[in-house]
Amino acid sequence: MCGIVGYIGYNEAYPILIEGLKKLEYRGYDSAGIALFEKEKIDIIKTVGRLEKLEEIADGNSPSCQVGIGHTRWATHGRPSDENSHPHRGCNGDFAVVHNGIIENYQKLKDWLIKEGHVFSSETDTEVLPHLIEHFYQGELLTAVREAISRVEGSYAMAVMCFREPDKIVCIRKDSPLVIGIGKDEKYIASDIPALLAYTRDTYILDDGEIALVERNGVKVFNGNGEAINKEIFKVDWDQEAAEKGGFDHFMLKEIYEQPSAIKETLEGRIDLDKDEVKLKEISLTREEVQGLSKIIIVACGTAYHAGLVGKFALEKTTRVPVEVELASEYRYRNPIIEPGKNLVIVISQSGETADTLAALRISKNLGASILAVTNVIGSSVAREADSVFYTKAGPEIAVASTKAYITQLIAMYLIGLYLGQLRETMAPGEVKEILDGLRCVPNQVESILASVEEVEELARKISTRENMFFIGRGLDYAVAQEGSLKLKEISYIHAEAYAAGELKHGTLALVTEGVPVVAVVTQRHVYDKTLSNIKEVSARDAYVIALALKGDEEINKVADEVLYVPQNLDFLMPLLTVVPLQLLAYYAALIRDCDVDKPRNLAKSVTVE
Ligand code: M6R
Repeated sequence: MCGIVGYIGYNEAYPILIEGLKKLEYRGYDSAGIALFEKEKIDIIKTVGRLEKLEEIADGNSPSCQVGIGHTRWATHGRPSDENSHPHRGCNGDFAVVHNGIIENYQKLKDWLIKEGHVFSSETDTEVLPHLIEHFYQGELLTAVREAISRVEGSYAMAVMCFREPDKIVCIRKDSPLVIGIGKDEKYIASDIPALLAYTRDTYILDDGEIALVERNGVKVFNGNGEAINKEIFKVDWDQEAAEKGGFDHFMLKEIYEQPSAIKETLEGRIDLDKDEVKLKEISLTREEVQGLSKIIIVACGTAYHAGLVGKFALEKTTRVPVEVELASEYRYRNPIIEPGKNLVIVISQSGETADTLAALRISKNLGASILAVTNVIGSSVAREADSVFYTKAGPEIAVASTKAYITQLIAMYLIGLYLGQLRETMAPGEVKEILDGLRCVPNQVESILASVEEVEELARKISTRENMFFIGRGLDYAVAQEGSLKLKEISYIHAEAYAAGELKHGTLALVTEGVPVVAVVTQRHVYDKTLSNIKEVSARDAYVIALALKGDEEINKVADEVLYVPQNLDFLMPLLTVVPLQLLAYYAALIRDCDVDKPRNLAKSVTVE
């Protein structure tokens, strides 16, 4: 949440900062600001509202200069307002700070600073940072930032400028991401790689506790003990086009259409075609360790959690080890039961930076579990702290609503399940091949769903005037129903709830009245008749039933008002197909309702706060 950028070089800083912020707007977009050096002072231009508003104010009014920092905000402490926007400064205006994270002890620090004579002008936690730096400054910015940060509890990625040291930016991170881009005689700072891609592929990814002194001609990185360290350059292999809209109206639609290739990329190199086996070199567990597993716990948030729900089916079927799926924000505050050496914890996170997921990882690791991270972002925090990492190869996902990341997380669940199942020898002869054959068909089948979106668009029009909807299903269909429901409410603001179809009559059926749309996912053949009965229950209450069914299912036409067909594959793999029309339904409903598809209200892509 919140995006920060910085530039130091010989080019005009303003357009570079603005372009960088545009790439980071997905991290927060309720206010924005920049700080630039002027002859007499550091000039700060900031405003509540989207980045365009900042541009309206700053275009033509920003001083010509070659050093600056910028920020796009997702409010945590203090409502979105001009005063609460970043950058923040101290009393004398010598320091400007942009910050992503939360200063947990800010109130204590603020009270103390006020007693010391500091005057605050915002409600934010961040503002204590420039005041603290000002307090400790004795002619060296790097030392003052170190001193200040030693008093701070919480999470931060921060960039600081000092008027008295105009050729430096100091940045530091703990529990919030920060990347430095290395150009010739110029350096870039950003919360995330897409903001750097237009300028460089050479980066330093800062680790927790590291602080960097960034100058035009070099970057010095120090660890938490103040020792200089030799940071390895991390070469980014994403191209810039991958982080652009590429002719689509929205990133979300582009990302939905990228799913067939994202699936292929994620499968690529992980299947031994000669032996029809899954090979996951990235998993460090030995055969004996896998055979000794007594429990697998999947921990994640939001859409990644929904991928985990499918993962439970995948892993239990293939490994016959009990799997629990946990919301990271709940799990981390319980006292989870882990049998050291016998439990595998799989954390799923597109960004690899979600605060709750990261905390869950750390707790599990401390308790002796083996940690496997499934993430899309190379070098992210969960990737660096896990014992093994399965990288989904979805490419940069910019839209707040997760689509291609989810589908590749599902691929990860299937492949991990198959791999562990092979090692445990818990699968029937021919079963691995059958599933792999099914997986290989998925990209083309997704293509075929994407080739006929008109029907979904038409349905979206029909539901777009509704304020409440339900999604139902059984087994894997229920897992997908939960994702479909989240997608719809997240971007179209239609209230939607997902229920296990058999649960409806235990309460929720009371809410099903005439015309209420009910999306029924009905692809699991072993519970087909049961789900059909549940559809009849809602039909009898005059609900408007949209069924998502297998091509060739004629029976469903008799009970549903509308049917969206998806190609047939193994029941086990159907979530890979059924989720696609649900993503499109949400997309078109949001579009018709004139919602900001890529940047839904109150949300941000990367949730680095608790
Ligand atoms: O980066 P992560 O996968 O850890 O993010 C988890 C959730 O915040 C995320 O999946 C969220 O639910 C999506 N925006 C939903 O589309």
